[in-house]
Amino acid sequence: MAGVSESSRGGFSNKIGFVLAAAGSAVGLGNIWKFPFEVADGGGGAFVAMYLAFCFLLCFPVMMAEIAIGRKTNKNAVGAFETNGHKNWSAVGKMGVLSGALILSFYNVVAGWAFGFALEMIAGNFEIGANFGQFISDWHINLAFSSVFMFLTIYIVMKGVSGGIEKASKILMPSLLFLILALMGYALTQDGAMEGVAFYLVPDFSEITFDVAFSAMGQAFFSLSLGMGALITYGSYVGKKDNIAHSTAMILLTDVGIAFIAGLMMFAFIYSQGLQGTSGGAGLIFTVLPSAFESLGPVLGRVIGAAFFILLSFAALTSTVSLLEVPVAYVVDEHEVRRSRAVWIVGGLIFLLGIPSMLGNGTVDFFNNFITYSSGKTVNFMTFIENLASDTFLPLGGFFIALYTAWVWRGDNFKKELEQGNPGFGDTILGKYSIFALKFLVPIILGAITMVTISDKFLGLDLLEITRNLINDLIKFINT
Ligand code: PHE
Repeated sequence: MAGVSESSRGGFSNKIGFVLAAAGSAVGLGNIWKFPFEVADGGGGAFVAMYLAFCFLLCFPVMMAEIAIGRKTNKNAVGAFETNGHKNWSAVGKMGVLSGALILSFYNVVAGWAFGFALEMIAGNFEIGANFGQFISDWHINLAFSSVFMFLTIYIVMKGVSGGIEKASKILMPSLLFLILALMGYALTQDGAMEGVAFYLVPDFSEITFDVAFSAMGQAFFSLSLGMGALITYGSYVGKKDNIAHSTAMILLTDVGIAFIAGLMMFAFIYSQGLQGTSGGAGLIFTVLPSAFESLGPVLGRVIGAAFFILLSFAALTSTVSLLEVPVAYVVDEHEVRRSRAVWIVGGLIFLLGIPSMLGNGTVDFFNNFITYSSGKTVNFMTFIENLASDTFLPLGGFFIALYTAWVWRGDNFKKELEQGNPGFGDTILGKYSIFALKFLVPIILGAITMVTISDKFLGLDLLEITRNLINDLIKFINT
């Protein structure tokens, strides 16, 4: 196996194995469940344009940085910084471990819904879409499906990253892509679909606010599994001869491509069902898709509907595996706990952490209306954790990883690592751009958006207004 430092850590069988596993981590509920409702909430095309810009301009260099740090040090998200000689920076890795745990806690609940919907489709119960609210507020159902899901995740992580899941992805991931493409084709033939496409593709730039930019940025990081060291951990299993830039491009294109067509499919269905304008939130795909499947007829609808949710569950599983792998690799490497034991303990704790997310969808009032932001918006426990971990911690992690790579580890060392397996890359336009972006573009843009939005959301301070006033005062002062 390539790039394996210690036999207990496991590894990927070859380069394709790594790309598949990393793409498996990236492609998941983020693309198919979260992306469409974020687009709906973020005003359509403007959100999509910003999301694409973040992915290609900012996330591409950050992804290379994570993989390079992992491969260079052969370590987990925390140990990597220490091994590289910068112990203080391992705090970034610790934030990643925490983000992984928080994200997995709610992700596992949503994965349980997808799994449950697969069974509902097999049973031909298309009404489940209209009864989604009831479905998620039933804690028995949630507990059952999410335990099954966590159990599967634990089992796979215990066996190590290579093996069955790698083989299964080779068949199941392309199947998912094929199915979404086919459904997209079908969706586009429906009445009203084109209006949905226009909403999705034509940006209305007046919709762009810091808040929307903040969600688009969070979505880009979440969907690409970036900012929490998942790819540091996966990168630690990559062979020295592998071409990091090339692998990064493949992972990014796969992930963005799948999100993009899933979005097209969803907005065609949403508009053809006359549901435009509904925000839908976390329930969007679960309420819209069952009636779309029903329209395919009782037999075909069941087959396609079940296949869709089964493949979605599988895509979620390759993501939950990577989410659990980050804290587990940390515990195994840094605290010398046996892998099998670490997996059960960490997985079990994260499962418990997910229970409030399960109960906050109509079961327990305290978790239903968990927190009210300074904007006046009240959200449930799950959305709060999502806002905190995926929208805030991940870009913040990306911010620190960029600063670390460009200024502390330093651009030339990063360049050297990238050039192993890709000689001369540092002198190409892409290579030069990436170092420039990590030095300036990523920290400035991510820093600004995060600061403005966090202070507004959690502290009730309007930084933009404050800055505007400051500048006005300054101008007045100069003029007098
Ligand atoms: N990228 C995954 C998805 O889109 C979620 C994820 C986030 C996985 C962060 C690992 C790390 O579903």
